[in-house]
Amino acid sequence: MAEKTTLGVVGCGGFCRGNHIPNLLSNPLVRLKSLCDLNTDGLEEYGTDVVTTDMEELFADPEIQGVVCATKPDARFEAMELAKKFRKPLFVEKPLCWGEEQTFKAVDMMREHSGLIFVGFNREFSPLMQDAKKAFLERCTSGNTTIIYRIIGESYLWPQHHYTAVVDRKESTIVHEVTHIFRLMHFFTGTYPVSVNTSGGGNMDNIITLEYPGDITVVIIAGDNSNAGFPKEYLEINGNHTTIAGYNFTELEVTGNDGTFIRNRYAYTIAGKPYITGRIEAEERKREFRFSVTEEERAYGYYYHRQPKVDKGHSQEMEFFRRCAAGITPSPINLFDGAAANILAYRAIKSHKQAQRIALNIPGELGI
Ligand SMILES: NC(=O)c1ccc[n+]([C@@H]2O[C@H](COP(=O)([O-])OP(=O)(O)OC[C@H]3O[C@@H](n4cnc5c(N)ncnc54)[C@H](O)[C@@H]3O)[C@@H](O)[C@H]2O)c1
Repeated sequence: MAEKTTLGVVGCGGFCRGNHIPNLLSNPLVRLKSLCDLNTDGLEEYGTDVVTTDMEELFADPEIQGVVCATKPDARFEAMELAKKFRKPLFVEKPLCWGEEQTFKAVDMMREHSGLIFVGFNREFSPLMQDAKKAFLERCTSGNTTIIYRIIGESYLWPQHHYTAVVDRKESTIVHEVTHIFRLMHFFTGTYPVSVNTSGGGNMDNIITLEYPGDITVVIIAGDNSNAGFPKEYLEINGNHTTIAGYNFTELEVTGNDGTFIRNRYAYTIAGKPYITGRIEAEERKREFRFSVTEEERAYGYYYHRQPKVDKGHSQEMEFFRRCAAGITPSPINLFDGAAANILAYRAIKSHKQAQRIALNIPGELGI
């Protein structure tokens, strides 16, 4: 068996404990040596050699080959400084950081080390998006393409700290969530939008229109006023008289102009048990879960142990990062990719504030 790659994690909060830590622990090619958080309660249970509150101790360990940072964006600069100092690949959760000014500061600071950074936009690693992109490249690239992405969740179920940030402090879900989709559209189109226009609620519940070179128009419908009993995400690509429809990471349909019809189904899990049922049964299970959520669970705000978990590519993303840390492959989503998603997010917010379409030149601004 190949040699294991030794990794550490900084910022072991709700999302990380529900996703990255279990995914790293179940990867036979990973040795998860160290966990770091300001609050170490419960971290001993994972059985790693090191549990610490000191980020630098983790980076300085000569055995650690790469670090996963799943803090909120506030601690990213400290992590990036350490990645640079110890020249270690660093996976940072999205968003890269807060604000346009901080984004350009991050780019200045890490420009020479852009490949050390891997920004955690997981969706493109999902089996459904991999197949959708293949179908797109094979069938839909002849121009006049429209892409619709729906991403609408239920803010009522969020952890309280996230609800307070978005609803009370008005931190925009365009930064928190839609950056995922901005990056995904780059994954499909391989290019950057030339304009953005945002309408709707502002910090939540927006419709964002992006125009890309090559006659590609994208509409993202993003919100938080839905019900979690209904699937959160939907992708539709129309081009060259072909439609590619992706239903919440569980089913993909391709209806081709040559008479082909493809339907692929993708596994989802409930409490670790895998199911492949297609979208209708997956939706029934989602509704069952949603209608059984208790007030105690809502107070905690994370449901990973029993919600139907569709495959959004989180485990494949960690395996990809392992390969980066082992020096096998370069970062697929580097500093500039993370910065581009952020710049687009802040311009989308500006478009809403100014109630007008904004022209963009993201590669020019980033100097790439
Ligand atoms: N990719 C996805 O699908 C996805 C989903 C949810 C959240 N996220 C992202 O994950 C990140 C974390 O979100 P969360 O909901 O788990 O937040 P959280 O607040 O539950 O977790 C953050 C953790 O970081 C720790 N921390 C803060 N500063 C630290 C420091 N200097 N050193 C060590 N630890 C420190 C905190 O104590 C906390 O435990 C955010 O950036 C969020 O956007 C990504």
